[in-house]
Amino acid sequence: MSTTEAVVLVGGKGTRLRPLTISAPKPMLPTAGLPFLTHLLARIKAAGIDRVVLGTSFKAEVFEEHFGDGSELGLEIAYVVEDEPLGTGGGIRNVADALTADTIMVFNGDVLGGTDLRHVLDTHEKNSADVTMHLVRVADPRAFGCVMTDENGRVEQFLEKTQDPPTDQINAGTYVFQREVIDEIPAGVPVSVEREVFPKLIADERRVFAHVDSAYWRDMGTPEDFVRGSADLVRGIAPSPALPEAKGESLVHEGAGIGAGAVLIGGTVVGRGAEIGAGARLDGAVVFDGAKIEAGAVVERSIVGFGARIGPRALVRDGVIGDGADIGARCELLRGARVWPGVEIPDGGIRYSTDM
Ligand code: GDD
Ligand code: MG
Repeated sequence: MSTTEAVVLVGGKGTRLRPLTISAPKPMLPTAGLPFLTHLLARIKAAGIDRVVLGTSFKAEVFEEHFGDGSELGLEIAYVVEDEPLGTGGGIRNVADALTADTIMVFNGDVLGGTDLRHVLDTHEKNSADVTMHLVRVADPRAFGCVMTDENGRVEQFLEKTQDPPTDQINAGTYVFQREVIDEIPAGVPVSVEREVFPKLIADERRVFAHVDSAYWRDMGTPEDFVRGSADLVRGIAPSPALPEAKGESLVHEGAGIGAGAVLIGGTVVGRGAEIGAGARLDGAVVFDGAKIEAGAVVERSIVGFGARIGPRALVRDGVIGDGADIGARCELLRGARVWPGVEIPDGGIRYSTDM
């Protein structure tokens, strides 16, 4: 049996997670205290894959600065940079020269999952497939690639982000490719694996198969999903070989200070050196390193960026607060509010109600 290598696509701009992705690429955002990609790399390692090629573009240098040669994770990590983003298919093609194995597992770099990757590889081998794609079922398939299969699990149709999905079975963003198929993708030009490569392979009647299961799965690309996925890691609902077994309602990192009577629930994460004031209430909050939540403030299902400050008795619900932003006392930020890095909102400066 030939060995398997992994490719992780991490070159996207992460626009749906702005403004957090202005300073850091999406796969590097802290998730349960670790750069998100660490959880995925630990899963790859746990599946017995030792060599990983990262296909980078946007903020490419950040990955190598953090992961280096991969030895801390017991991996050998190589980096291939796209000067201009080549899309998902172009990104896969672009790393071809860095690959040595016959069987390549390709990952979208923003997926939190619990699937046993060995089972996906087994399905690939059993079907003598050219490509195998991991599929999951979701309530609303419109934001994903919809995949129709026949009774043998062979893929019949791939429809990327369609408004009228014919099935709730979607592309989970993990594939097994035979090396030759990667070499067939046109080189040096932007190509979408979802809109071009998969439809062509299906039209050419190549052996494209599905591995469907119901393990934990979440794309972390939106604030809602990022907050949920982070909380699921803290509470042990989402598995990660990179985290210790002990799970609870919150995860507080070293150097953080928690004031008297502060309530931390719903899978809240408090970063290194962050400060939580007395009586503050954090429910499903993701508080990055060095941020400060003042006394009596309430933060629900929201992300608070590096070094940001939430003033006394302010309320942030379903919001994203950029790095270093300063939210004044008694402000109310609700329903998808996004504050850009460094922006200062004066005390009482934004309100949704007239009481308080
Ligand atoms: N190297 C490189 N170059 N990587 C890229 C590029 C690029 O030009 N564009 C995107 N990526 C990376 C992103 O960083 C991310 O890790 C991955 O490719 C997928 O991009 P997303 O932007 O997150 O795509 P999506 O979530 O809208 O849709 C994709 O994932 C869904 C599952 O999570 C598609 O593959 C869907 O079919 C799928 O259902
Ligand atoms: Mg995504």
